[in-house]
Amino acid sequence: MDFWEVIEERRSVRRFEQRDVPEEMVERLLGAAIRAPSAGNCQPWRFFVVRRPEVKEALAEAAWGQYFVAQAPLVIVVCAEPQRSAGRYGRRGVELYCLQDTAAATEHILLAATALGLGACWVGAFDEQAAVRALNLPAGLRPVALIPVGYPAREPGGRTSRRRLQEVAETII
Ligand SMILES: Cc1cc2nc3c(=O)[nH]c(=O)nc-3n(C[C@H](O)[C@H](O)[C@H](O)COP(=O)(O)O)c2cc1C
Repeated sequence: MDFWEVIEERRSVRRFEQRDVPEEMVERLLGAAIRAPSAGNCQPWRFFVVRRPEVKEALAEAAWGQYFVAQAPLVIVVCAEPQRSAGRYGRRGVELYCLQDTAAATEHILLAATALGLGACWVGAFDEQAAVRALNLPAGLRPVALIPVGYPAREPGGRTSRRRLQEVAETII
């Protein structure tokens, strides 16, 4: 799949086959994640690959009952480490850059999953403290995205709509 196909084909996948995702593929997803840009190259991120059913279930509960999270063979939890950005950028690092950096890493994972024939979904609606407890995260890590990953259970549906380019973009001459 070339780059433009990946962009076209990526969509949120919320139903998965039970088939396992090989560890080499997970490594490629994480390898893609750490190639993301980050402010000052601070790389204020940590990734947790969750395969344990009880922990996936706790994450699904944390995500206000989005049970498809627990049905994926694995969930990658993307965490921000704000203090890494604070050291160099102070408040802007904490409030903006570490979140943008981890968002870029999250998108890299989604695109890499598409390129590998996997399905994934960016899940951002969850109770942060419940996710911290589910993972027993150390202080200083802020979970920012849950990414259930697996083989799509069926042909992905049609693409979701987008606002027209003319509505959202303009050229300033
Ligand atoms: C920051 C963010 C949070 C999201 N949170 C959720 C979520 O909690 N649950 C969910 O099912 N999808 C979630 N999504 C996926 C969006 O619903 C999805 O990207 C959007 O509807 C467009 O569809 P597409 O990804 O198939 O193009 C989230 C996406 C983003 C970027």
